[in-house]
Formats: sequence, C-alpha cells, structure tokens
Amino acid sequence: MPTESDLRYLGHRPFFTFFSNLLDARFFASEHSEPVRILEIGCGPGEFAHMLKQKYGNKVDIVAIDPGDNVALAQKNYSSNGVEYKQATVEDIKEDASFDVCLFSKSLHHCMPLHETVVKTHALLKQHGVCVAEELDRDQVNSKTATWFSDRLDLLRLGGLIFDKTPEEHEAQGDSEELCAHMFDVSKPGYDRLREFYKDHLVNEELHTLPIIMDELYKSFGEKNVKVASVIPFLHEFLIFLG
Ligand SMILES: C[S@@+](CC[C@H](N)C(=O)[O-])C[C@H]1O[C@@H](n2cnc3c(N)ncnc32)[C@H](O)[C@@H]1O
Repeated sequence: MPTESDLRYLGHRPFFTFFSNLLDARFFASEHSEPVRILEIGCGPGEFAHMLKQKYGNKVDIVAIDPGDNVALAQKNYSSNGVEYKQATVEDIKEDASFDVCLFSKSLHHCMPLHETVVKTHALLKQHGVCVAEELDRDQVNSKTATWFSDRLDLLRLGGLIFDKTPEEHEAQGDSEELCAHMFDVSKPGYDRLREFYKDHLVNEELHTLPIIMDELYKSFGEKNVKVASVIPFLHEFLIFLG
C-alpha cells in the first residue's frame, strides 16, 4: 500500500518535471561551474526541495523556507540531504541578489503580505535570475471537466479504491473532514463540489486569487517578463487530498 509520502511525491511530479526541464535548459545545457542557488519559499514539509536535491546533488544549493510548523518535519525527515531548511519568510533572508531561482510550489497564494513577498523575492534574485511559481486558478474549473472528474471519483470510492480517512488521519494530514465529505457528496453535481472546494480554500481562508497574484508579479517583474508557461488540470491533487 502506498504511504502518504509516496502519494505526496506523486502530487509533486507534474511540477517537478516542468521545473527540472527548466533547470536543465537554463542552467545545465552547458558547463555550469557554480552550483545553482535555489530558494524555495513555502516549502511545507520539504519534499519538493528533497526531490530536487536527490536529482541534482552538488549541482544545486538549496535553501527552503516556511514560516509554518511543517518545516520541523522537513528538518527531521531530511536532516542529511544537504538542503538548508529554515522556519522563515522571505523578509528574514538578508542576502539580496544572491539566488538564481526563487521557487513557489502552491505557496504564493498563501503568502501574506503578498505585495511585500513579491517585491522581496524580486530583490533576492540575481540579475538574470528566475522566479517560478506553481499556482491554482479556480476560475479555470469548467462544468464538463468537473463532472468527468466527480464521476471517476465516485466510481473509485464505490470500488473501494479511495479509503475514507479517520478523524485522526484528517488531523495528522492537516486537511478538512468537512471538505472531503463535500467532495464525496453524490447528491451534488461535480461542478458544485469543485467550486465549493475552491471557495472554501481561497475565499474563506482569504488566500490570494490568481488575478491578484499576476497583478503583483507584473508590478515587480514587468508585464513582458511574466509568462504562464503551462496550464494543467490540477485534479490529481484531489486524489491525494482525499486519500
Ligand atoms: C499549500 S502549502 C504548500 C506546501 C509545499 N510547497 C507543497 O507543495 O506541499 C502552502 C505553504 O505556504 C506556507 N506559507 C504561508 N505563508 C507564507 C509566507 N508568508 N511565506 C512563505 N510561506 C508561507 C504555509 O506554511 C504552507 O506550508
């Protein structure tokens, strides 16, 4: 049976593939003598930085920060991997113009205050540095896709391939029992289930929406320098979240 950690690795895989292709093309296509300095902002329990370090070893020098308690898990689980995990926000990082890459994996919409976070991130980058963010856009959810997904979710659950978590498992994994129940509510159309999920995640928790994030990126980096490199359905994350 897959462990929670295996599942979390699977959840990171699409962005990890994108991000390592970008590193390969930008830094490793020709001889690169210095390690690429990467700052991961909002690293949570630290898997993404760990995966990067496993793949690139001494070719990368990674600092991974998060103000939350999860970073203690990263320090405990990955103490010997060479990543410097710190309980911090970007404001605590004093080395301006010293990173080749600043990276956010599903964390920028959580960062308060957003304006100051983006301004400081820009300042932390070297002259030709790059900021990469994996983000959610709840307005991209359309009815057909949501119905396709909820039909499959219901089949998997009926077939016993998705397990209901115990209240203790919900608590340990930091997710909401109520939201999971909502996603499994067969009396509601798929579209309502997904909209409600995103509404809870972004609106109720007062997290930043994509248009607001894009606006801040445009202000700090300049509109012509900000690119949406790829748009993918984010549905695989639900399978992991729902167990
Ligand atoms: C959805 S989690 C993503 C965690 C991890 N990047 C991942 O992909 O599993 C969002 C993270 O952003 C962190 N966060 C919240 N406010 C932040 C801030 N001001 N600066 C950096 N990280 C922050 C949270 O503590 C949380 O770990």
